[in-house]
Amino acid sequence: MTAKITFIVGSPRKKRSCNFLIEKAIEGVKSELDDVEINKIYAADFNITPCNGCDQCLRDPYECPLSENDDMPQLEDSLLDSDALLIASPSYFGSVSTQLKVIIDRSRPWKMNNYQLKNMICAPLVAIGTRNDAAGGVISDIINFGLIQGMIVVGALGNPVLEQNIPITSLQKYGRKEFLGKDETDELGGIVAHNLGKRIANLLKTMKK
Ligand SMILES: Cc1cc2nc3c(=O)[nH]c(=O)nc-3n(C[C@H](O)[C@H](O)[C@H](O)COP(=O)(O)O)c2cc1C
Repeated sequence: MTAKITFIVGSPRKKRSCNFLIEKAIEGVKSELDDVEINKIYAADFNITPCNGCDQCLRDPYECPLSENDDMPQLEDSLLDSDALLIASPSYFGSVSTQLKVIIDRSRPWKMNNYQLKNMICAPLVAIGTRNDAAGGVISDIINFGLIQGMIVVGALGNPVLEQNIPITSLQKYGRKEFLGKDETDELGGIVAHNLGKRIANLLKTMKK
């Protein structure tokens, strides 16, 4: 059975660091899985109104009135039938991008209507500016989203000493004033994103047996 994996580029900048991580993860998936539908979407392509806390999603029919006038139905159509959801976000003051936060809040009806994302795999990827900055807040935003939605949150498996489990790409290299050049990429971030794609492909192979 074909697996469907949705990848969200959470930055308003479509072709930068988040996109780099997503492309590496897609390469990792494809290295392990032939029978796969790759659904790559950009958060910035969807016009989503911020949640206003009306709580109508708590009651039958668990629908959001804002969805009548924005792109939430298109987003639902695109991702609700996925087997896995990989979300790449830039760190904006240590949290996910505005574009992603709006989507996360508006996803509440999916939970209220019988956990529509339950058992979907969820994985975070993060782009930061300065090397030692707060990726942790972004990671916990995405992990919390996954846990609260009943998803299965996973990380990468690679060299247990040399490669971490969550893909993080940084613009700053190891020197204080050294930043990635125009055609340079963060090697370690790319390797871990690739490992994450492989990990998810292998998990899906096991789960779909
Ligand atoms: C509004 C704003 C806030 C940011 N805050 C942080 C921050 O707190 N820490 C950090 O390391 N980088 C911060 N950055 C930098 C981005 O995280 C970094 O450039 C990232 O690579 C952007 O991802 P992208 O290239 O996919 O857009 C910020 C950027 C913007 C626009």
